[in-house]
Amino acid sequence: MTTEDRVTVVDVPTEKRAELRWILEESFEGWYLRHSMGTLESVETVRAAVSADSPRGLVMVKMLGPTSGYVFYIAVARAHRREGVARVLLDDALGRFKSAGAREVFASVEEDNEPSERLFVSAGFSRTSFGEVSKAHGRLRAVNMYRMMRVVPGEVLLRKPLAQAGA
Ligand SMILES: CC(C)(COP(=O)(O)OP(=O)(O)OC[C@H]1O[C@@H](n2cnc3c(N)ncnc32)[C@H](O)[C@@H]1OP(=O)(O)O)[C@@H](O)C(=O)NCCC(=O)NCCS
Repeated sequence: MTTEDRVTVVDVPTEKRAELRWILEESFEGWYLRHSMGTLESVETVRAAVSADSPRGLVMVKMLGPTSGYVFYIAVARAHRREGVARVLLDDALGRFKSAGAREVFASVEEDNEPSERLFVSAGFSRTSFGEVSKAHGRLRAVNMYRMMRVVPGEVLLRKPLAQAGA
């Protein structure tokens, strides 16, 4: 049986999100832990991978505008890493972004977070830069997007173009 068969991805409403905090505690520390906890409460969409009624991982996502999606955080319970849970969550997020009309999706990862960068690269993301985002969206909009994404020094920004049907 594959992970995809065993894991269901569900929407997590605001009042249920505190039940996922332990996954963040296992996954992040310092500023990232604090920021991810705050984002868990406030971000527009949280999706959880659930198996046998217990959460295995989560992804926090938002739209940055009508055509750009952003994966804020993705985290998997330590005991269930390397089972394909993050891939299922990311595929789910990409499908939803596409349905929402996104033509590109961004994610930022710490420069030395190899598991995370590999996960995104294996799903078709590649490194981009402020210069490239400016060229596509204009400098002012790029500044705003970077602000919304909270890209901080030491992180790299990744981007995946999404083909829309009929585009
Ligand atoms: C990054 C993270 C979300 C991956 O979750 P996961 O469920 O273990 O990942 P998957 O099993 O779905 O792996 C999918 C792909 O990601 C890559 N990958 C995942 N973990 C990896 C690791 N430890 N080393 C190298 N590549 C890794 C691989 O390409 C993998 O494909 P493969 O198994 O076919 O080789 C998980 O390690 C985690 O929660 N880390 C802490 C939080 C974090 O850093 N989040 C990302 C920044 S927001």
